[in-house]
Amino acid sequence: MEPGPENFARAAAAVAAQAAQLIQPGMRLGLGSGRMALALVEALRPRVEAGLAIQGLCTSRATETLARSIGIELLANSAGGLDLDLDGADEFDPQLNLLKGGGGALLREKVVAQASRRFWVLADAYKQVSQLAAAHPLPVEVLPFDWQASAALCEDRGSCHAELRGGLERPFITDNGNYLLDLHFPGGLTDSSKTALELSQIAGVLGHGLFLGMATAGLIFDAGQVRVLGDLDRQREL
Ligand code: A5P
Repeated sequence: MEPGPENFARAAAAVAAQAAQLIQPGMRLGLGSGRMALALVEALRPRVEAGLAIQGLCTSRATETLARSIGIELLANSAGGLDLDLDGADEFDPQLNLLKGGGGALLREKVVAQASRRFWVLADAYKQVSQLAAAHPLPVEVLPFDWQASAALCEDRGSCHAELRGGLERPFITDNGNYLLDLHFPGGLTDSSKTALELSQIAGVLGHGLFLGMATAGLIFDAGQVRVLGDLDRQREL
């Protein structure tokens, strides 16, 4: 069950403190979006103020604003690759496949995750699921131009219902100037790889919130402590 804001903040602070301790001088980081990611940046503040030199590529304006304010050197791109990406998730399964995009930053989040040798997901245990997209819709970033055609194709290929985030009157606009569709799959996804492939073949779909096989480890707040899922040292080939 989702904890109240105070309990979530406690979980975020515990996960962020543990992750922040593991950051080494000179690291080039991906900095994600949402409460866990912001807590991580905040947890880095004392170390940065004490002289820790790190660089960060931020996945949203909100994260960038906070990172800049505490003195993290901002990167404009991931050229040469990033050492480690740290980001939250809306859902994760036991293999660390993720559903992301509840905050609307999924496209930049995936670009940054793809450019990172390691990707640690920071989350509370209540987000663990056995089947992705049963409890949350799957966010998809679409081109505003003829977004209705993209929505129809998503519905047709994915056997789902597409909802324009924010509604027709005031559609949610991403940091990239695009729209978001929230795809509702009754009962969740039975074959997430197939859905990911089908969505990526739709021209107007710029990105979707399935992050399959990308996370290399997880720092999970569970029963009052931080549990590590996977291997914190595991690296992916870029
Ligand atoms: C942002 O687009 C999302 O992918 C977030 O990473 C996700 O919603 C998790 O956010 P919280 O850490 O706030 O739960």
